[in-house]
Amino acid sequence: SSEELDRRIQQAREKLGSDLVILGHHYQRDDVIKYADFRGDSLRLAKIGTGQKEAKYIVFCGVHFMAETAETLSEPGQTVFLPDLRAGCSMADMADIEEVEEAWEAIQEKFGDTVIPLTYVNSTAAVKAFVGKHGGTTCTSSNAHEVMAWAFARKKHVFFLPDQHLGRNTAYFKMGIPLEQMVIWDPVQGQFGDVQGPFNQMRMILWKGHCSVHQKFTPEQVRRVRERDPEMKVIVHPECSFDVVKLADDAGSTGYIIKKIGEAPAGSRWAIGTEVNLVQRLAQEHPEQHIELLSTTMCPCLTMNRIDRPHLLWTLESIIEGKPVHVMEVNDEIKHWSKIALDRMLTIK
Ligand code: 13P
Ligand code: SF4
Repeated sequence: SSEELDRRIQQAREKLGSDLVILGHHYQRDDVIKYADFRGDSLRLAKIGTGQKEAKYIVFCGVHFMAETAETLSEPGQTVFLPDLRAGCSMADMADIEEVEEAWEAIQEKFGDTVIPLTYVNSTAAVKAFVGKHGGTTCTSSNAHEVMAWAFARKKHVFFLPDQHLGRNTAYFKMGIPLEQMVIWDPVQGQFGDVQGPFNQMRMILWKGHCSVHQKFTPEQVRRVRERDPEMKVIVHPECSFDVVKLADDAGSTGYIIKKIGEAPAGSRWAIGTEVNLVQRLAQEHPEQHIELLSTTMCPCLTMNRIDRPHLLWTLESIIEGKPVHVMEVNDEIKHWSKIALDRMLTIK
């Protein structure tokens, strides 16, 4: 029963005491995130993870790439767990390392040594290792602007993986790069998309990946909300498409959205374009404001929702029994290079 699950999870936490830290991403379900010692967006959790030097066990309630990052940045002797190892991310799966290597060859042929690769942390450790090896780094949606500025201070062109939307939105809205200076790399076709000018004028090379949750928001939804209620402010995650971000009043990472709502006066009205668990939680936590999801259809991140209480309990009890399950492992060579990429990011912002 629900009470029984709760009782056993609490008991396991008590038994493990300060050896255990549970991290929870904002998109986690309410009944899971309530057990998190720390909540955060992906940047905050990566940083908090590195600060938990006393903990022997870090249980990451989030998705695969986040736990992989925590494992890569962990201290020797620490173990990182993902309560369901199948909790992946469809965006990270869109950039296979072999396809990335193939793209890099084609890019080098066109651009020579003038390109620096960047990857959104929503990518596999192998892709992070690739950017680390080639002088690049990682970013999250909270620091994409600073990281891109860092990259453009080093090379004329940026190869951005795997989210075309975060890449395009950051380049256009934060760096002032026009759309005509961006070209898509299509990994399925194994070729560049159409270009509107000479290749060497393309500042951004965008991997054709996206988040299936955030890509569901449309410009039409923004228009409809405004027609219905002209007072409504629309705030969206930069994983949404360019047209949605352009029409919205504001855009930013999960952490940024939470901060904006937290600072808004009572009576504010918001339509939010991001994962539904977070939007519903914000609505509950801010009854003094009107908060709704930008879309009328639900848009949960199904893989985030794979982490449930039975899986969390199973993981915690397996640690106590000395037969740990759902342990995150990263191959040493990949870990070495992906750590270089991640450490570079952490020195930028
Ligand atoms: P942030 O936590 O960086 O806002 O990213 C959102 C996301 O899609 C996590 O998978
Ligand atoms: Fe991946 Fe999108 Fe889910 Fe984030 S919301 S974990 S990018 S599928």
